[in-house]
Formats: sequence, structure tokens, C-alpha cells
Amino acid sequence: MNLCIVGTGYVGLVSAACFAEMGNDVCCVDINPAIVENLRQGKIHIYEPGLDELVKRNVAEGRLRFTTKVSEGMENALFVFITVGTPPREDGSCDLSFVYQVARDIGAHMTDYKIVVDKSTVPVGTADEVRKLIGEELKKRGELFEYDVVSNPEFLKEGDAINDFFKPDRVVVGTDNVRTGELLKALYAPYARSREKVIVMSVRSAEMTKYAANCMLATKISFINEVANICEQVGADVREVRMGIGSDHRIGYQFIYPGLGYGGSCFPKDVKALIDTARQYKFEPELLAAVDEVNKRQKHTLSRKIEAYFEPQGGLKGKTLALWGLAFKANTDDVREASAFELIKDVTAKGMRVVAFDPVAGPNTREHFKGNELLTVVDEQYAVLEKADCLAVVTEWNQFRNPDFGRIKKMLKAPIIFDGRNLYSPQLLADLGMVYFCIGRRTPKA
Ligand code: UDX
Repeated sequence: MNLCIVGTGYVGLVSAACFAEMGNDVCCVDINPAIVENLRQGKIHIYEPGLDELVKRNVAEGRLRFTTKVSEGMENALFVFITVGTPPREDGSCDLSFVYQVARDIGAHMTDYKIVVDKSTVPVGTADEVRKLIGEELKKRGELFEYDVVSNPEFLKEGDAINDFFKPDRVVVGTDNVRTGELLKALYAPYARSREKVIVMSVRSAEMTKYAANCMLATKISFINEVANICEQVGADVREVRMGIGSDHRIGYQFIYPGLGYGGSCFPKDVKALIDTARQYKFEPELLAAVDEVNKRQKHTLSRKIEAYFEPQGGLKGKTLALWGLAFKANTDDVREASAFELIKDVTAKGMRVVAFDPVAGPNTREHFKGNELLTVVDEQYAVLEKADCLAVVTEWNQFRNPDFGRIKKMLKAPIIFDGRNLYSPQLLADLGMVYFCIGRRTPKA
């Protein structure tokens, strides 16, 4: 099948490469000439395991092309995917200007029937607006081509996106046209493997499904973080509680790992956007507002513990924090809404120095904190420990899971670890003579 994908960000590029890999002919459009030129040479501007190889192979084999022109991208395509960004505005609502511009471009360049597919995460009702904008452009041109607008939200996890695309739990297609639904089923058949996995529904239900899914997952995380905080108060261990509740198959073990709150480009933005949508309809979404509040509070959990620990020793001023992990989660260089950033802001505001390491998110962090002289980002995991007063672990990279505790103890001024991901055994660290703080668990005194 012939596809045009407008927007070569994370979702667009992953989808394009995965569609091409199955034999489809894919042309990607991006307004940024530098990005297009780099992609033509196989140079990728985002970090995602396996993507580099997939893009290079499909470019070399002629199934994946790049252009800056929507007209060129659309030329032979039946499907035109909109995969541009929908960044949050100050007030939590979605900025849809990129989506609307693409809709106008599609209307301005359409020369035959197209199925326009909204893959960007967009508020309920956006497909109607896209349909309207395309129609207006066609009218200006005096043309009467037919087209359908479909909602097809993505459920890709950063770091595991290719696997998610090839083995989806489900593919959601929102359309009011049976034939279009069948064509999308055919497009996704090689991935979904069973037709039942492609769930066809109304356009508005599909748009809502994306938000409901992410808000449900965010709710699970805020719920377990709340439980973890109560566990600390009452002397229970949230890891044991997680095992106890997860064994009930109605609850399940997944997405109930406590930590420093959810981050990334999706959950924080999508929870806020659904709150905003509900309020536009004069409905107050009390649960979602609480999920968001709990998450905001959770991001400061480790800095509160660090501050409380150093309070009797004259506070944080002049002390140094060694920090492992900057990305919002492992296997990505994405630092959007990263909990590590809240920690850095909190402690540097109190005069603490931070020396940080992350396997891939160092450059993005340096860029973000340009001008903050209290932060140094280094390129070696153990180098951060030199003369630091304590170590904080914030991202669950594999290389932090079984570190050399002897080396940590020797290099730190005092053997203290603040763990925002519950990676270590409190008993083991106590046996090694280390002071250990984590989330929602009793920690034996060293
Ligand atoms: C998410 C959804 O999973 C995906 O389906 C959607 O398309 C995009 O948003 P992503 O943002 O890549 O994907 O990350 P995810 O792995 O879901 O983690 C989100 C955040 O939740 C991370 O900050 C992670 O550390 C946190 N998290 C996750 C927890 O704190 N506890 C958990 O149990 C799970």
C-alpha cells in the first residue's frame, strides 16, 4: 500500500519505518529541510533502540523516502497520516496548530480520494475540525475530491516502540465508514495477526480511547505512589503490597511500580488535556485532577528525603549530590517531564551541587540546564561519586541495578543512597553498612 506520513517525530518515524518494513511504500514529509536531509542519509534525530537499522534498511531498499513537500508525499498515497506534535499550552490544553496546518496542506494539495489518518494524540472532536479544514481548502480551489478522516491513536512506549508496533495489544480505528475500516484492517493485518485485535469504533470513541488508556495507566501509578507514601507512614513495605494486590488478576502486577511520579511526553500532557476537555464541557474531573496533583507531589519525594536527612547537618548548601539517571525512564534520551529535573531544580535552589550521569540523556540535560552552574553532567557512571555527599538513583537503567557497592562506598564521602526506583535490597545495603532511603519501604538502619 502507498502511505504518506506527515511529521517525522517519534511517532511518525517509528510508524513509517515499521510500515515500510512490511513492504508498504512510505513517503515521509517534514517541514524541516535539515531533518529530511539527514534522514535521507540514514541519520536519525531521535533515540529509539532498533530504529536506526530499520530506517537505514528501508531507505536502502527503496520503500522509505523523505521530502519537505506535502504535495510530493501525497502524490501516490491512499493513506495520509498526520503525526505532528500536539504540545501542551501553559493552561494544559493541547496546541493543535501543527495538526490544523497539515490539514490545510492536505486540502491544498489533494488530487484524488485520500484516507486522512489522525495518529497524533488529539482532543475529542479534532477529526471533525480536520475534516472541515480540508473541505474549506478544497472549496477555495473549487475541487470536490472525496476523503475520509480517521482516528488511529498510537500506543507506543518509548524504548520499546518497534516491538509495540509489530506486536500491538490492539489497533484502534475510529471511522464512520465501513469500507475505510476494512482498508485499515488490511493495512494493520500483518501486525495485529488476528482481525479481532483491530477494534473499529466511532471517530470520537477512538479519540477518547487514547486519553482513557493513558489516564488509566497514570491513575495506576498515582494510586501506587499514594499507597507507597501511606506504607512509609504505617511501616508497611509497598513491594510486598504490590505482590499482594497484583496477584489478583483484576488488578495485575503491571504499572503499579512506585517511584518519583510519571514523566515523559504523554502521561502528564494527556491527563492535563483530558481535564481541560472535561472542563470545556463544564464537567469537573475530580479523579483526574487528583491523579495529576499526586504526581506533582511525588516528583519532590526524593528531594524532601534528601533535605530532611541533611537538615541536622546544616542543610544542602555546599553539599554535593551524585545523580544516576536523567531520562524520564530507562532506554530513552527523552527528558520531558523527567523526575530527575524536579530533583535537580529542588536541590540546586537550596545551594546543593549536582554531578549527574545518564547513559544517553546527558546532552539533552546540559541543553535544558544551560546556565545552572550548580549542575555538572559527566560521561562516566562512577565519576559522579567523587567527593559527593550522597548518591541518588532516579532512572531504572539496567546498569544501575547491580552496581559495585564497594566502589560506591569507597568513593562517596558518606555511604548514603537515595533510591527513587526501589532498585536495591534494603537488607543487603544495611549489611554493607550503607544508609538507604527508598520509596514506600522500611529501611533497616545501617
Ligand atoms: C506511554 C504509554 O505507555 C504508551 O502506550 C503511550 O502511547 C505513550 O505514553 P511512555 O510515555 O513511552 O508511553 O512511557 P511508559 O513506559 O508508559 O512510562 C511512563 C511513565 O510512567 C515513566 O515516567 C515511568 O517511569 C512511569 N511509570 C511506569 C511508573 O512510575 N510506574 C510504573 O509502574 C510504570
